[in-house]
Amino acid sequence: MDLKIAVLAGDGIGPEIMEQGVAVCSAVAEKFGHKVSYKEALCGAHAIDEVGDPFPEDTFQTCMEADAVLFASVGDPKFDNNPSAKVRPEQGLLAMRKKLGLYANIRPVETFECLIHKSPLKDEMVRGADFICIRELTGGMYFGKKQEPTINADGVEEALDTNYYTRPEVERILRVGYQYARQRRKHLTVVDKANVLASSRLWRKVAQEIMTEYPDVETDFMYVDNAAMRMIQDPRFFDVMVTENTFGDILTDEGSVITGSMGLLPSASTGEHTPVFEPIHGSWPQGKGLNIANPLAQILSVAMLYEYFDLKAEGQLIREAVNASLDANVRTPEIQVEGGEKYGTKEVGQWIVDYIKNK
Ligand code: IPM
Ligand code: MN
Repeated sequence: MDLKIAVLAGDGIGPEIMEQGVAVCSAVAEKFGHKVSYKEALCGAHAIDEVGDPFPEDTFQTCMEADAVLFASVGDPKFDNNPSAKVRPEQGLLAMRKKLGLYANIRPVETFECLIHKSPLKDEMVRGADFICIRELTGGMYFGKKQEPTINADGVEEALDTNYYTRPEVERILRVGYQYARQRRKHLTVVDKANVLASSRLWRKVAQEIMTEYPDVETDFMYVDNAAMRMIQDPRFFDVMVTENTFGDILTDEGSVITGSMGLLPSASTGEHTPVFEPIHGSWPQGKGLNIANPLAQILSVAMLYEYFDLKAEGQLIREAVNASLDANVRTPEIQVEGGEKYGTKEVGQWIVDYIKNK
């Protein structure tokens, strides 16, 4: 297969982990006889500094012309504490999602046996947890009508975000959820706040209609506050969870820490145009340039990329190599066992590349 990949390394540790992701991608391509070409493009803080736009038109074109986008992370502390900054790196990510029509964000939450002790939950609660959160990504409060803080007629400062959803937006994301549920344990949980929010009542109404088309899948409904609790008390309950943009953002961060594998979780965003594959962790500016960032989530994002194109053996080989590196204790500092040798970003990536080559 011929694959054109747009490479958006972004900020912080992004470029370092991306280097390893690309190396693994190439090693797999060589092994299986695929032709992969890469085109780098600017995004995030980096792009603001260079061209004044966190998702420049050139980058958008590069993404549109590619078969897939491999994305690392964006963000820079110089923007975080400045609420009045006119442009922010995160706007680049949001613009990318919107312009590429990436309405479905697939975030697997899974455990790695050798990292279970890193979970803040008791081992026996979390062992075997394995679910997918499908987060709606181009609607809701993130994109609804906004008003930045302003003084109103009564002299009081006010601001507004609108949680707006349409039936087609809700319907298409639910259908993505059902497709995943059918390939898994056939259990779908719709997470909303229908006891309070009108937008959630739309979600529930649409879901109650659509569920009748998928009688082979067991559907249940859960309020988001309850879901947050259930994820901690009994994460194995979930198989596929579908939820709106804001709830999905919050719940997937929770999901990534309960497994103890924050640095290991990849994601895929799919929809109307080129799909994007990216780690769910952020740009970790403090780790930048130190060769200590864990490249595994980026490398597993490459596995998701291959799997998206139905290249299952390719994805599987990457997963096998990642597991082998963990078993061999070739690990970055934050997951190394006490007394074990600490490997750098580059060394972990190289070990995985060698494993693939020698397989
Ligand atoms: C994520 C991130 C983004 C989000 C930020 C960086 C805009 O937290 O992908 O979850 O909130 O969607
Ligand atoms: Mn987030």
